[in-house]
Amino acid sequence: MAAHIRALLLVCASLLINSVLGEAPYRFFVWDTTYGVINALGVSQQGILINGQFPGPTIECQTNDNLIINIRNSLPDPFLLPWDGLQQRKNSWQDGVSGTSCPIPPGQNFTYHMQAKDQIGSFFYFPSLAFHKAAGGFGAIRIHSRPLIPVPFPTPEDEYTVLIGDWYTAGHKALQDLLDSGKELPSPDGILINGKRNSNGADFTVEQGKTYRLRISNVGIQNTLNILIQGHNMTLVEVEGTHTVQNSYSSIDVHVGQSLSVLFTANQPARDYHIVVSTRFTNTTLHSTAVIRYAGSSGPTFEALPSGPDDVEFSLNQARSIRTNLTASGPRPNPQGSYHYGSINVTRTIRLANSMGLVGGKPRYAVNGVSFAEADTPLKLADYYNISGVFQLGGIPDAPPPAYNGAMEEVQSKTAAMDSDHRSFVEIVLENSEDGVQSWHLDGHSVFVVGMDVGTWSEQSRGSYNLVDAVSRCTVQVYPRGWTAVLIALDNVGTWNMRSEVWARRYLGQQFYLRVYTPTHSFRDELPIPDNVLLCGRAAATNSSRTHV
Ligand SMILES: *[C@@H]1O[C@H](CO)[C@@H](O)[C@H](O)[C@H]1NC(C)=O
Ligand SMILES: *[C@@H]1O[C@H](CO)[C@@H](O)[C@H](O)[C@H]1NC(C)=O
Ligand SMILES: *[C@@H]1O[C@H](CO)[C@@H](O)[C@H](O)[C@H]1NC(C)=O
Ligand SMILES: *[C@@H]1O[C@H](CO)[C@@H](O)[C@H](O)[C@H]1NC(C)=O
Ligand SMILES: *[C@@H]1O[C@H](CO)[C@@H](O)[C@H](O)[C@H]1NC(C)=O
Ligand SMILES: *[C@@H]1O[C@H](CO)[C@@H](O)[C@H](O)[C@H]1NC(C)=O
Ligand SMILES: *[C@@H]1O[C@H](CO)[C@@H](O)[C@H](O)[C@H]1NC(C)=O
Repeated sequence: MAAHIRALLLVCASLLINSVLGEAPYRFFVWDTTYGVINALGVSQQGILINGQFPGPTIECQTNDNLIINIRNSLPDPFLLPWDGLQQRKNSWQDGVSGTSCPIPPGQNFTYHMQAKDQIGSFFYFPSLAFHKAAGGFGAIRIHSRPLIPVPFPTPEDEYTVLIGDWYTAGHKALQDLLDSGKELPSPDGILINGKRNSNGADFTVEQGKTYRLRISNVGIQNTLNILIQGHNMTLVEVEGTHTVQNSYSSIDVHVGQSLSVLFTANQPARDYHIVVSTRFTNTTLHSTAVIRYAGSSGPTFEALPSGPDDVEFSLNQARSIRTNLTASGPRPNPQGSYHYGSINVTRTIRLANSMGLVGGKPRYAVNGVSFAEADTPLKLADYYNISGVFQLGGIPDAPPPAYNGAMEEVQSKTAAMDSDHRSFVEIVLENSEDGVQSWHLDGHSVFVVGMDVGTWSEQSRGSYNLVDAVSRCTVQVYPRGWTAVLIALDNVGTWNMRSEVWARRYLGQQFYLRVYTPTHSFRDELPIPDNVLLCGRAAATNSSRTHV
C-alpha cells in the first residue's frame, strides 16, 4: 500500500475513533476539603480550604471537556459544591445544591461528573450548604475556547484570576447563628482580593507594552464591588461566557455572584499600581487593594488611590453599555448573534418580586410572597422516585400578590417549585421595591438581559428592551426600586435553583426551584441518574443498592 494511502487511512481511522468516542478530553481533579485557619483581616478564623488552599484551586479547561472531580469531605459537616455558571447540560443531578443533590457526608468522597458543554468563559465554584459561603471554599473556573475557535482579541500575555468579595471576621457559624436567631448580619469587615486585603508585595507582575486578561468574580456574600486599576483603563471582553462589545472602562461594578473578563495593557511608566476594589451602595465604603508590578518597577506610583463613582445612574448606564459582540464567536465558530432571541415569541411572562416578612416572629425573605423551606429530600430525587409530599409544584405564583408593596409583607414558608415546559421561551421580570441592589442567579441557563431601569415595570417597558445584542449571562442585578427583564430559552431539562446571590437572603428563603419539564423521558433530553448518586431523606429507602447517607 502506498505510504500516502496508509497515512490517509490512519487519519480516517483516528477521525472515526474521535467521532465515536467524542473528542472531548477528560480532566481529573482530586480535592480534599478541610477546615483550616484563615487570617485575612488580622483575626484568625475557621475557614474552608480545598487541598489546603484559600482560595481553592482553579479549574482550567476547554469547551466540552469532561470534568471529573473527586471530593473528599473532611469537614465535620455535610458539604456540597455548586459550579456557578457551568450549565450542566441535561444534568441537574450534578448541580450541587440541596434541591438537587444529597450532601456529601462528613468523611466521605463524592465524584462529580460534569461537562463544560458548549461553554466558554469565567465562572467560580463555592460551597452551598449552611452558611459555608462565608467561610471560603471558593475558586475560579476558566473555560477556554478550543484551539481552532477564533477568540475576538489577540492572545493576552497572561491571565490572572481576581476573586473579590466582602468578608467577615466572625466565623460562618456565628453568622449563621445570627440569622437563625432572627438578627440581621452586620456590615462586612473588609474586602478580600484573592483571599487577602491590602497586600504590599507584587500580586500580579506585568511587562511594559504587554496586554493581560483579568478574570474577575465577585465571590462575596452581599456587596456590589467596584474595581479599577490605578492609571489604566480596562477593556471588557467577556461576561459569564459571552464575548462582549469591547468597551473601555476606568472602573467596573461587579455585583455579587457575577463574573467578567477585562484586558488591560501595561502602557504606563514602569512602577507599581494598585487594583482598588470598593463596596458600592453602602453607607460605609470599604476598600481593598492589590499590587500590579511592572518589570523594572521604580516603586509605587505617587498618585492617591482613585475611586470610581458610587452612583446608581452611573452603574445602570454602565450595565446598559455591556452588550454582545455579534460578530465574535462563542463556543462554536458561528457568530454569537446568529441566534435571534429578539424574534422568538415569548410564551410566558413571570414577574418575580423580592420581599421580606416574618415567619414565626423571625425575618424571612421571599419571592412573590413565598419563602423557600428546605426539604428533607432533594426535590430532584423526590421527582425521580415519585415521592409525593416533598415539594409543591406550582407553589409559587407567576406574579407578586396584588397588594404587594415590598418590604415586610406577609410571607408563606413552603418548599415551592415552579413548573415550566422544556423549549418554552419565557420573559422574567425581576422587580425590586427595596432599597438595596439585588442579584439573581438561575442555574442551568444563560439569560438575555434585555432591559433594566429604576422605577416600576409595566408592559410599556418592553418598548425599551434591547432585542438585538443584549448580553447573555447567568447572574443579573436589579437596582434599588427598579427592575430587570430577561428572556430565557428553557432548553435544559432538569430542576434548577433560582436564587438571590445576597447570601443571607437566600439562606432565609429567597430562592426556589424551576423545573424544566418534558413528558418524554429520554436520555436525549436528560442524562440518566448517575450511578454514584447519593440518596438521603425519603429517597434513602428507594434503592438499597445505591449509596445511602
Ligand atoms: C477520596 O478523596 C481523596 C482526596 O480527596 C483521594 O485521595 C481518595 O483517593 C478518594 N477516595 C476514593 C475512594 O475515591
Ligand atoms: C481612559 O479612558 C478615558 C476615556 O476614554 C481617557 O480619557 C483616558 O485618557 C484613558 N486613560 C488611559 C490611562 O488610557
Ligand atoms: C444607610 O443609612 C440609612 C440611615 O441611617 C439607613 O436607613 C439605611 O438602611 C442604610 N443603608 C444601608 C444600605 O445600610
Ligand atoms: C467584535 O469581535 C470582532 C472579532 O470577531 C472584533 O474584530 C471586533 O473588534 C469586535 N467588536 C467590538 C465592537 O468589540
Ligand atoms: C409569533 O406570534 C405572532 C403573533 O401571534 C405570529 O404571527 C408569528 O407567526 C409568531 N412567530 C413564531 C416564530 O411563532
Ligand atoms: C415514577 O412514575 C412514572 C409515571 O408513573 C414512572 O414512569 C416511573 O418509572 C416512576 N419512577 C420510578 C423511579 O419509580
Ligand atoms: C437501583 O440501583 C440499581 C443499581 O445502581 C439500578 O440498576 C436500578 O435501576 C435502580 N433502581 C431504581 C428504581 O432506581
